[in-house]
Amino acid sequence: MESEVCQFYEKRSVLVTGGTGLIGKCLVYNLLANCPDVGTIYLLLRKKREFSFDQRRERYLNYDIFKNLKTPNLLNKLVFIEGAVDAKNLGLSNDILSKVTAEVSILFHSAASVGLEAGYKGAEQAANSNLRGTMNVLELCRSMTNLACLVYVSTATAYHFKSLIEEKIYPVPCTPEQFLSVMESGDAKAIDKFLREDMKMFPNAYTLTKALSENLCQAENSNIPICIVRPPIVSSSVATPVPGWTNKMQAFNAMILLWVMGLSRCLTWDPDTRIEVAPVDYVCNVMITAAWFTGQKRPVDTVPVYNVVPSEDNSVTWRKLLEYSLDVVFESPSIKAIRWPGRQMISPKTPFKFLYSIIFQHIIFAIFSDLFLICTGSSPQICALMIKMVNTIKSVRWFLTKDWHYINTNYLALTDHLNEHDRKLFPMSMKNMDWKSYIHTGYYGIRKFVLHEDDDNTKAAIGRLRRLTMITNGAVIFAFLMIISMCFTLFLFLQYTILIHGRY
Ligand SMILES: NC(=O)c1ccc[n+]([C@@H]2O[C@H](COP(=O)([O-])OP(=O)(O)OC[C@H]3O[C@@H](n4cnc5c(N)ncnc54)[C@H](OP(=O)(O)O)[C@@H]3O)[C@@H](O)[C@H]2O)c1
Repeated sequence: MESEVCQFYEKRSVLVTGGTGLIGKCLVYNLLANCPDVGTIYLLLRKKREFSFDQRRERYLNYDIFKNLKTPNLLNKLVFIEGAVDAKNLGLSNDILSKVTAEVSILFHSAASVGLEAGYKGAEQAANSNLRGTMNVLELCRSMTNLACLVYVSTATAYHFKSLIEEKIYPVPCTPEQFLSVMESGDAKAIDKFLREDMKMFPNAYTLTKALSENLCQAENSNIPICIVRPPIVSSSVATPVPGWTNKMQAFNAMILLWVMGLSRCLTWDPDTRIEVAPVDYVCNVMITAAWFTGQKRPVDTVPVYNVVPSEDNSVTWRKLLEYSLDVVFESPSIKAIRWPGRQMISPKTPFKFLYSIIFQHIIFAIFSDLFLICTGSSPQICALMIKMVNTIKSVRWFLTKDWHYINTNYLALTDHLNEHDRKLFPMSMKNMDWKSYIHTGYYGIRKFVLHEDDDNTKAAIGRLRRLTMITNGAVIFAFLMIISMCFTLFLFLQYTILIHGRY
């Protein structure tokens, strides 16, 4: 049996925005690895302050993940084009623009600024990269002569003001133009007020711009073949490019890392809320096959939306995540950890323990650790790390305390539309996901690809943590003895004073 999906991609040109991101890299890998007869893959790449366009292209071609490609010379299919989504015509030169508009058949629009801070912070980037970016991509699509499908990568968090999120596009209480005109005022206070008060149903500008972009896609449905893929938190891969692959410290990985590094022992969270998470390779497989499905059998009345979230009968909670991680984390701790991770993560459900943990396990611990570092001639860093941690937690707090319900019928049905061969080639179903084994693989992935630690440093890491524990325990005992001896001295002093005064 042949792959219908690969047949669809054969000799078709693809344009990817956001190809350097977590999803983008895995998407390019999966396309090349599974559909080696795909045509040219145009990758939109912008120069960055520290790297020129050419330097970034070289770095890209040298990414380790591409060394796993089995067919030789596949990387020759990649054509890097300089530009940015927030520029008109994506900032493409005239030559490239005409090539792209004539050739490209599938466009994956994944570029976005994914900062989750509330209010003004990050709003400008979200307005430019996410909203203006999508406007520019849609305008480009309108002039494309061969476009079979535009896949817009949105987010499952776009409508978090609803408790039940279906696979449809919901209205937003402002238009893209209204939001952009507030942004154009440049008045930080007015923008902050607009986001925090008028748009308070959105936790940040990121989700607002994603929802507005979806509405823009909906408005273009009659002109452009579009589908929308909504991933939840995207985490390490199940299988491709290699099991456990990730390249990023975002919400999910960040929470695990804060704990693994020994930084957080308590969290403003509800451990029994479900984690909406999906492996990066599954998300990319949904994107590839959704493009095929839309390109072949596009429904005309509405934009197909795919909520790539685990079904509630097989999902995982934050509590389970910690429970499943305990053995691997204690077996292979990080050499960069500042102390052993806590065996439990205290939540505000136990207020006394929570307060104790904040004061003793975080504030006092950080101050004493930095004092110790200063005394030993090193520069203090633990207090700064703790402050950074609080800010990270603040920006993702809404994920940690609430459950949402999703309808994921389109996502589940996508597998049913695939033939047997394609089901094997593009796995994407989380129905029978073994979360424990996924979390184990994911932890080793984070250790390798985010912390850049080798598996053979385990003994050294355990030894280091044991020494740190001895130092901390020693410091606590020392502090305790100091307090006792000070109390005792004070007691003797008072007794002596009373004795002397008693004489006179
Ligand atoms: N990761 C998640 O947990 C998650 C969850 C739900 C939805 N999503 C969505 O999935 C998509 C990809 O996310 P990701 O995790 O792969 O993000 P990422 O790793 O942060 O990568 C973002 C990508 O967008 C590019 N980009 C941003 N602004 C751009 C601009 N103005 N012009 C051109 N390129 C620009 C970046 O290019 P540079 O390398 O040049 O910065 C990078 O390639 C996004 O649309 C995001 O909203 C992600």
